[in-house]
Amino acid sequence: MTYSIIGSGNVGAALARQFARGGIAVRIANTRGPESIVDLAKELGEVVTATTLNEALDADIVIFAVPFAAHQALAQARASWHGKIVIDAMNAREATPEELGGLQSTDAVALLLPGAKVVKTFNQLPAALLASEPTQDGGRRAMFVAGNDEGANIAIAALLESLGFAPIILGKIAEGGSLLRYRGPLVLQKLIKQSS
Ligand SMILES: NC(=O)c1ccc[n+]([C@@H]2O[C@H](COP(=O)([O-])OP(=O)(O)OC[C@H]3O[C@@H](n4cnc5c(N)ncnc54)[C@H](OP(=O)(O)O)[C@@H]3O)[C@@H](O)[C@H]2O)c1
Repeated sequence: MTYSIIGSGNVGAALARQFARGGIAVRIANTRGPESIVDLAKELGEVVTATTLNEALDADIVIFAVPFAAHQALAQARASWHGKIVIDAMNAREATPEELGGLQSTDAVALLLPGAKVVKTFNQLPAALLASEPTQDGGRRAMFVAGNDEGANIAIAALLESLGFAPIILGKIAEGGSLLRYRGPLVLQKLIKQSS
């Protein structure tokens, strides 16, 4: 399984830090090219590789950590999304309900990525917290997951476990996933799950 992070800003860099901490190889890309990410990649060690956008989009699991409007350009950057899992870490702060066609933002993104399984997670915490050690106070930081494909939700929950989080699957986007919408009740919840 190969992983990539699209976006090297607050969230992209926070996630790269978590992959480095977990020892899971990941590519990272932005609009400006790999040379603009080399310092971050060097700091984080060998598992984080700065690549071109096209190389990053070849990964099996692609994390969108870009401003919401940029998902449209990313969708057009590949001829096919078939077989991929896309993690939507975006918050649709700037999109109106009309622009989303009345859908949850993740379902609106999925419409542009035919063949991909889209899973919402990582959007719910501020970047600084997202970058911090997921094991806290004798427990693990809770990370909510929602998506319309049960297998993809389980695969991403397993990734979260490997990164040290405590994944909690909410179900489909239009159901439990609506709790993860921008300004939804589970966004900014800094919950720690104690080991049982
Ligand atoms: N900031 C937070 O605390 C936080 C928390 C949770 C979720 N979110 C969500 O996460 C997303 C990213 O937020 P952020 O704060 O990390 O933003 P940011 O610091 O502005 O970084 C955005 C990154 O996206 C890249 N990008 C923009 N358009 C792109 C495109 N078409 N192709 C490839 N890369 C592109 C930018 O590339 P360049 O570097 O080349 O400009 C930049 O690296 C947003 O949707 C936001 O709502 C943010």
